[in-house]
Amino acid sequence: MASASIDICDSPAALATRAADGFASACEQAIRERGRFAVALSGGTTPRAMLEALAERALAWPNIHFFWSDERCVGPEDPDSNYGMARAALLDRAGVPPPNVHRMKGELEPRAGARDYSEALRVFFTAWPIFDLVYLGLGPDGHTASLFPGTTALDVTDETCVANRVGGQVPSPWRLTLTYPTINAARRVRFLVEGAQKADILKQVVEGAQDVERYPAQGIAPGSGDLRWLIDAAAAARLEVR
Ligand code: 6PG
Repeated sequence: MASASIDICDSPAALATRAADGFASACEQAIRERGRFAVALSGGTTPRAMLEALAERALAWPNIHFFWSDERCVGPEDPDSNYGMARAALLDRAGVPPPNVHRMKGELEPRAGARDYSEALRVFFTAWPIFDLVYLGLGPDGHTASLFPGTTALDVTDETCVANRVGGQVPSPWRLTLTYPTINAARRVRFLVEGAQKADILKQVVEGAQDVERYPAQGIAPGSGDLRWLIDAAAAARLEVR
């Protein structure tokens, strides 16, 4: 695993607060330096508490632009939608201006959805996207975003967003995902991982032998070097470094 800092929090609630604090400080710095903050949210369940904590804060919402690290190929109203989760937990509650919400269109045919998002990124960033902050989760199989073991998206070097057929029992067999070159171009990358059920895979990814094809989260290595794991004590239980 690329060199990374590990931040162990006592509980999921402490993790949510620590992550929200990090969001706020990254946001303040980005707006001070560039007038806007471009953040990519991860999906799944872990980020919800952080998003709900952010909804209680007075942040410069008109200057914050929300993107996603990945999305299930479902509509925005679908209970499996990552956008839908963030909308309920934060976006609607904080009154984020709709033009600042750049969702992946999971309702489109997957490849069309990937093309659409790549174009949206090109329009917003004009050059290769450099996010101020990208959030990621860790799946039980070592996937992150929708970069799943043994899937074609792992090998993409010239696209910012791709459709990825992940199969299996995951919420939707097709996904849209940012690619490694896009994620690794970010100024900051933060993994949020919690729960005893993640202890084994976290140890494998962070302390085990490098095998990106098998453990795609190991392929996250931002050129900026600012990679941090925010984890709770339960998930950290098997780590040597504590
Ligand atoms: C998704 C993801 C995925 C998620 C991990 C962890 O769309 O599901 O973005 O990569 O972050 O699977 O999910 P949990 O937070 O639910 O454990």
